[in-house]
Amino acid sequence: MSRIIFATGNEGKMREIREILKDLNMDILSMKEAGIELDIVEDGSTFEENALIKARAIAQTDVCRAHGDIVLADDSGLEVDYLNLEPGIYSARYMGEDTSYRIKNHNIIQRLDGVPEDKRTARFVCAIGAVFPDGRVITTRGTIEGIIGWEERGSNGFGYDPIFYLPEYGCSTAELSMDVKNKLSHRGNALRALKEKMFREHLI
Ligand code: IMP
Repeated sequence: MSRIIFATGNEGKMREIREILKDLNMDILSMKEAGIELDIVEDGSTFEENALIKARAIAQTDVCRAHGDIVLADDSGLEVDYLNLEPGIYSARYMGEDTSYRIKNHNIIQRLDGVPEDKRTARFVCAIGAVFPDGRVITTRGTIEGIIGWEERGSNGFGYDPIFYLPEYGCSTAELSMDVKNKLSHRGNALRALKEKMFREHLI
């Protein structure tokens, strides 16, 4: 059976991708499950570049070449319009990789002190890069639009979820159940776009 390798060690992401791609009838493995260990420097200047850097590095391993695997990788982050799209591709590294999200989130709220609701627009972005065994490459992007809140709310999710509000739902993404968030999320949208593009371009 053909295999898809997804460049992540995150179990939550694996569950989401398995759910969305389940009708492809392919084995979907994490890097770890495929026995691949690789430290990759993400030094691209866009989400798409970073996703492709990861996917290409993994596609070049002996394991993937021997199996003829399709390799997927994602890169995601938060763009705040008022902050000139910061933290963007530096979302994980914002204020330092080891700084807690409580501190990062408070800092963003502080930088938006006094900013009215209509200028607090923000989005989560996710780019997915896919490398196919014949060398072809595609990328897709998914987003979810919201605003930066005035305080942290909710304890589901991770990262910037407690300060990312969805006005039409009246809550932050940290207050949504995982199921609902996956249906709306930037990663879900990027994965669904990827599936469509793979079919449309006869890549699978
Ligand atoms: P990565 O693409 O998994 O490296 O994620 C980059 C960073 O973006 C994460 O560490 C989070 O800070 C942020 N991020 C990406 N997606 C989300 C999300 O759905 N909720 C909250 N934060 C997110």
